[in-house]
Amino acid sequence: MDKALEKFGNDVAIAFSGAEDVALIEYAKLTGRPFRVFSLDTGRLNPETYQFFDAVEKHYGIHIEYMFPDAVEVQALVRNKGLFSFYEDGHQECCRVRKVRPLRRALKGLQAWITGQRKDQSPGTRSEIPVVQVDPVFEGMEGGIESLVKWNPVANVEGRDIWNFLPAMDVPVNSLHLKGYISIGCEPCTRPILPGQHEREGRWWWEDAKAKECGLHKGNMKEEGVHLHGNGNGNGNGASLSNGSTIVADIFNSQNLVSLSRAGIENLAKLESRKEPWLVVLYAPWCQFCQAMEGSYIELAEKLKESRVKVGKFRADGDQKGFAKQELQLGSFPTILFFPKHSLKPIKYPSDKRDVDSLMAFVNALR
Ligand code: ADX
Ligand code: SF4
Repeated sequence: MDKALEKFGNDVAIAFSGAEDVALIEYAKLTGRPFRVFSLDTGRLNPETYQFFDAVEKHYGIHIEYMFPDAVEVQALVRNKGLFSFYEDGHQECCRVRKVRPLRRALKGLQAWITGQRKDQSPGTRSEIPVVQVDPVFEGMEGGIESLVKWNPVANVEGRDIWNFLPAMDVPVNSLHLKGYISIGCEPCTRPILPGQHEREGRWWWEDAKAKECGLHKGNMKEEGVHLHGNGNGNGNGASLSNGSTIVADIFNSQNLVSLSRAGIENLAKLESRKEPWLVVLYAPWCQFCQAMEGSYIELAEKLKESRVKVGKFRADGDQKGFAKQELQLGSFPTILFFPKHSLKPIKYPSDKRDVDSLMAFVNALR
């Protein structure tokens, strides 16, 4: 903790929501160094959780930097699918809107973040988390892959040691713990557990235990059939193409982005002269690297909407995989192609830096 605060100063922050995170704040205070704390307010937290957040602010004399979901995105989700869609088709979509995208925004302003993940919190997904790692999914302020450090200082600490530490230091805790809750997230997706049940059983209890990550720590998930391997540049930054079957909500949803069908992209690829140049991402919604660049790509589409460059997406997993590999230079997900105005052959984006500025530089160089 001290090392993280010393090295990154104002560019590191503690991700705060639960008991482990109060322990982190207490540690940070003990170092005597200034520290920042942020929290994702999904809008669906329990009243007790908001009271707990307030108590922590007052106890430490700090301001938690709250991050909120995008109002338009929440509105679209709730209007389309109702307030409890996660019970019907899984928590990933709601978590993406209410947690993951706000987290991505928060992390874009940092060089490092500190989490309260522990190995024994979730044997299925967290048993191998290291104390410090290059964030496998999110980008930091420099942009691009490997631009963010993730610290998990209590990775090897057992739950009971946290619970001994907190009362010893006389710090605030969430009053829901007195009602049988251990791991606490959003109100509709968290419930108390019975003696003998694992703490994770109180989260998203209607779903398969293997899927119990909401996307904040997506790198913990080892999806079956998705192996990380080189993408042709030897950089190990791409997802292999072996998984096309998982049903997950679509990504890159924006009115500034054209979703191309197979016929649409075939047509685009065979034109020798186009009305305007196109930038197209070949993606799979389950691919964590595609998810990681979602925010940048949507922002890019927004920036290019008044220009003569069209921005599109083509879902290239499943049945489309063979075609995309053969005809569209698909190596690994995501593959980004620029279709110039006057040339048949699309140009493949060569870098694994997928922040807005890098992508914009590529487009500007070619348009
Ligand atoms: S979750 O991914 O399943 O929701 P969990 O509740 O286990 O995460 O918390 C693990 C760590 O993720 C916390 O110690 C904290 O660092 C971070 N975290 C979880 N939820 C939030 C949140 N709402 N805001 C900020 N950080 C969070
Ligand atoms: Fe939505 Fe539940 Fe995820 Fe909260 S935990 S963001 S309510 S799906």
